[in-house]
Amino acid sequence: MNIRALLEARFADAFAAVGAGDARPLVATAARPEFGDYQANGVMAAAKTLGRKPRDLANEVVGSLDLGGIATSVDIAGPGFINVRLEPSFIATQIGADRALVTPAVPQTIVIDYSAPNLAKEMHVGHLRSTIIGDAMARVLEALGHRVIRQNHVGDWGTQFGMLLAHLEELGNDTTALEDLEVFYQASKRRFDEDPAFADVARSRVVALQSGDEVVLERWREFVRVSQAHCQAIYDRLGVGLTAKDTMGESAYNDDLPKIVAMLQQQGLITESDGAKCVFLPEFAAKDGEVLPIIVEKTGGGFLYATTDLAAVRYRCHVIGAARVLYFVDVRQSLHFRQVFALARRAGLASDQCSLEHHPFGTMLGKDGRPFRTRDGGVVKLSALLDEAEQRAFALVSDKSPNLAETERRAIARAVGIGAVKYADLSKNRTSDYVFDWDSMLAFDGNTAPYLQYAVTRILSLFRRGDVA
Ligand code: ARG
Repeated sequence: MNIRALLEARFADAFAAVGAGDARPLVATAARPEFGDYQANGVMAAAKTLGRKPRDLANEVVGSLDLGGIATSVDIAGPGFINVRLEPSFIATQIGADRALVTPAVPQTIVIDYSAPNLAKEMHVGHLRSTIIGDAMARVLEALGHRVIRQNHVGDWGTQFGMLLAHLEELGNDTTALEDLEVFYQASKRRFDEDPAFADVARSRVVALQSGDEVVLERWREFVRVSQAHCQAIYDRLGVGLTAKDTMGESAYNDDLPKIVAMLQQQGLITESDGAKCVFLPEFAAKDGEVLPIIVEKTGGGFLYATTDLAAVRYRCHVIGAARVLYFVDVRQSLHFRQVFALARRAGLASDQCSLEHHPFGTMLGKDGRPFRTRDGGVVKLSALLDEAEQRAFALVSDKSPNLAETERRAIARAVGIGAVKYADLSKNRTSDYVFDWDSMLAFDGNTAPYLQYAVTRILSLFRRGDVA
């Protein structure tokens, strides 16, 4: 319920009762708390039109005003402002009613696909929005009483792993080399590009992985375990609720992929094009009539990102039994999801009752309006970004409260720095690109995390002093 609109209507009745029905009451939130909660500012203009003294008219309006059960006091101030203070029990009822409005009648099973980094590399800024927005949605839907199933669709399979495992072997399988995964990935890539013999080994490791070679599989598992520990450290720092049990990576669907393709084949949906298995759906025709293919198996074998997502849809709809599947993935993957959803429906991998929803978000930009990068143009590792957030917050806190003990300043800096990064993202329009700007996200006033955190801290301190639980 909109309280301002309710007051405006009650005042309009009173204005009409005193012959000022043509004027608007102009109810607004009070300019200052000592005036009350709301104020009606329309009396002066009404009095002018009617040729009457504003204070007299204000008295009459108050006499006709019915705010029973809504206000504890109604006072006239200055030339004819009318101040209203709300009844606490009325506010409490309103809050209860608003909460009832958003409580679902029937709890649903909702799958949320979010974060989903590629485990061959270190998490970078590109994963920040999915992780933060997806986690917020998971919490909100859970709080509303739904059964939320988090699915972290990590990239833990594919040809890059051949290169990574081959390089790890060169280093005697010493996993301490994975401490900086980004550096390790770049080194492996360099080896692959420079040395044809190495590239051959890398390719043979891919074949070994795919054919289930137990020794290579075990090394791959170890690699994935180390990489996931990196991600978990980030989730813990961000206060994001993802854990290992939410991981259902691409590799989990390996056995399903040939079955999915066979099923599409059986339904007559597959067309071979240059040796690749494709599905052409008429709704993906371009203006010139040419239809965009969905490739499900490469020439010479091997499945694709889309094939895995088809298997994931089947699992989520038919095994988990989700009523809704929400994907928090970059807007640049919109076409991919439209294709996967359309084909999944056509092939019966998703029933009509299962709602498949891509909730896209825009790119994080630097102050120069270009995708956010390091000074030398590299991708920004998420761990480095969070370090910087905490450092900047520490400098600010130390500046403001130099007398606090360092451990305390560090603790505050952690809350403020991480909070700033999360809130800067959540407070923006989800679908547009947004500019990542340290100064504005760490400002102590405006719509920022530090401001909100300060307000919450103040409120909690009032509660403590007032002995309110
Ligand atoms: N790993 C992908 C990437 O980094 C995101 C996966 C999103 N989820 C999905 N079901 N495709 O781009």
